[in-house]
Amino acid sequence: MGPDDTTLFPSEAALAAFGDRLPLARQFADHLVTSGVERGLIGPREAPRIWDRHILNCAVVAELVPNGARLVDVGSGAGLPGIPLALARSDIGIVLIEPLARRVEWLREVVAALDLSVQVEWGRAEESAVRRRWEGADVVTARAVAPLHRLAGWCLPFLRTGGVMLAIKGASAPDEVARDSSTVQRLGGGEPRIERCGAGIVDPPSTVVVVERVPSRARRKRG
Ligand SMILES: C[S@@+](CC[C@H](N)C(=O)[O-])C[C@H]1O[C@@H](n2cnc3c(N)ncnc32)[C@H](O)[C@@H]1O
Repeated sequence: MGPDDTTLFPSEAALAAFGDRLPLARQFADHLVTSGVERGLIGPREAPRIWDRHILNCAVVAELVPNGARLVDVGSGAGLPGIPLALARSDIGIVLIEPLARRVEWLREVVAALDLSVQVEWGRAEESAVRRRWEGADVVTARAVAPLHRLAGWCLPFLRTGGVMLAIKGASAPDEVARDSSTVQRLGGGEPRIERCGAGIVDPPSTVVVVERVPSRARRKRG
């Protein structure tokens, strides 16, 4: 990292998010701002705000993840939010799903370098073989991957009944919920709700659209 990094590193917030795994989180940050930028996984302009806008913004979503959850991260890109969640919570079993080969290669290198027990799947969320391999999950996450209605079609099939999709969204969340709620419910979700995570750790808090997978009987009644 560069000479200014100590001023950019929010040490108290990062300690609150990662506890004794903070050194590993710092290694992840180093990978992002060096090879992650060089190999095009993250834009060079993101490097100075890698902690607030990316690593911490993702890690705080751990507030919504139950103990011991099996979690699928769809469209993981540079490992966001999956790797910060794995660093914040060693009890979660995580698979990162990503279709671009060069991103998958980088993710596998980083997971190995950090010695994380995270799996990396090369494929698209909507592929039936990928779905079959990872179905029955407790949680599916996605950040900056697709609009809510498309995410519902890609993510809900991975979930067990009662499991939740956590879509990390920005200011668009209320509009997306208003626009896509009925499609989401037709695709097997409950009514989407908006949660905010990480107050006191990230400013602004992360905005997450939460959709539960409802039992198929409830879906038939609605239909
Ligand atoms: C804008 S990037 C966001 C990456 C990361 N989630 C983040 O927040 O930085 C979108 C990612 O979704 C992946 N993606 C696009 N379509 C997908 C699909 N059908 N299934 C899984 N991933 C997909 C892309 O390859 C890309 O890595």
